[in-house]
Amino acid sequence: MRVPMMAGNWKMNCDLAEAEALARGVVEGAGSVEGVAVLLAPPFTALERVASVIAGSNVKLAAQNVYWQEEGAYTGEISVKMLASCGCAYVIVGHSERRGRFGVPEPDMTEDLLRVFGDTDAAVNTKAKAALAGGLTPIICVGETLAEREADLTDAIVKDQVVAALEGMTPEQINGVVLAYEPVWAIGTGKTCEPPEANRVIGVIRAAIDSVAGAGAAHDITVLYGGSVKPDNVRALVSQPEIDGGLVGGASLKAGSFSELVTVTKEVRGS
Ligand code: PGA
Repeated sequence: MRVPMMAGNWKMNCDLAEAEALARGVVEGAGSVEGVAVLLAPPFTALERVASVIAGSNVKLAAQNVYWQEEGAYTGEISVKMLASCGCAYVIVGHSERRGRFGVPEPDMTEDLLRVFGDTDAAVNTKAKAALAGGLTPIICVGETLAEREADLTDAIVKDQVVAALEGMTPEQINGVVLAYEPVWAIGTGKTCEPPEANRVIGVIRAAIDSVAGAGAAHDITVLYGGSVKPDNVRALVSQPEIDGGLVGGASLKAGSFSELVTVTKEVRGS
């Protein structure tokens, strides 16, 4: 059974006080909703604080990134075990911003600076496997850039990213992941992928999952859409049969709008 899900990715926003207030607002607005997994992914620095605010509610904690080693001399990195000890149950892996594939790069983002964000397909695969081994659910993001879409490469890119991300996993492990289709050109730009097109590409993602894990494997896997999801387009998106929910940046930074996304998803998809 795939679970409808609404996940708020706060990205590099919220100091501790802001994180606490936002998490409180989400608990008030959506913390008792059942039948939809409600996730918050604050920055690392606010994980523990948000964990204490959401305790006792239905809201779950996610991290935005992870490193695959358990411990050691990896300055600035965070392990699966550290995330679990902060209360995380999920971790976002391979977000296009971590892959250095920005929808709207800063004007001064040169190639050299972009290399800071260096997740390759192999890194995404290694991180996802480490997350699973440590008991966290990876939310694996895939999606094409505008140039790739215009060159008619969307399906090939997305398929390759899915196959690479799942490489070497058992069907049981694959059954434990969440995928997110996030067209890079729709992230933070206000441009949403038309719901039928997002639905179609998620069909391509499910076919890629089946090609790796066996026919029918994708049926039970939650696949989200991400890219400018907001209250006025969420209903059309989650009404599509392949779209199980959203991975939301901008609209997750206001408790009211994020709670509305959860409520609509519950209305349309909840049991
Ligand atoms: P957005 O971000 O909702 O601000 O477009 C989505 C994402 O990056 O997951």
